[in-house]
Amino acid sequence: MNTTVQYIKSFLEREFGHDPWVCMLATTDEAARPTVRCMVLREIDTDGQLWFVSDRRTRKDDHLRARPDTEVCFWLPRQQVQIRIRGRATVMDAQTDQFFRQMWWDRLSDANRRIFRNDETDSDPSMPGTFELLSVTPTEIELQDLSDQDNVQQVWKVG
Ligand SMILES: Cc1cc2nc3c(=O)[nH]c(=O)nc-3n(C[C@H](O)[C@H](O)[C@H](O)COP(=O)(O)O)c2cc1C
Repeated sequence: MNTTVQYIKSFLEREFGHDPWVCMLATTDEAARPTVRCMVLREIDTDGQLWFVSDRRTRKDDHLRARPDTEVCFWLPRQQVQIRIRGRATVMDAQTDQFFRQMWWDRLSDANRRIFRNDETDSDPSMPGTFELLSVTPTEIELQDLSDQDNVQQVWKVG
């Protein structure tokens, strides 16, 4: 894994531990209007890619298919640090992938699976065709340390 990504991951591990790694993920719509939403970052893998579980019915998946540039932002209150990760997203859907979607579906809690099912009352445990994955390959990372009087800002190009 790239050393910058590893460095950033250590901040996230320190902050969140086993709690959900909640961030904001930005996309742009067809009229170039920006929009953000909360997401749970599920994993930063050994290649330094960020993984999210998602749903075909949300706007972000359509946005990222058409315009893969994205930015993910974390605020880490205990450490007083903001982290921004810019990158390119790939949407893995029922047409392009079965293996990784199934792997992540199997890892989800029952409560999480209910969110991604098509119908609240649907008791079918199998993975719905609308369940998707987003992977983000970082291109630039920024860390702003507000615990420091000098408000240190560091920016790294990645990859
Ligand atoms: C704390 C929190 C975490 C969330 N995590 C996810 C997530 O991991 N995956 C997801 O698809 N939606 C998640 N959502 C829902 C999205 O924020 C958003 O409501 C959904 O993507 C629809 O918005 P959109 O159409 O603009 O994409 C989460 C919402 C909250 C409040």
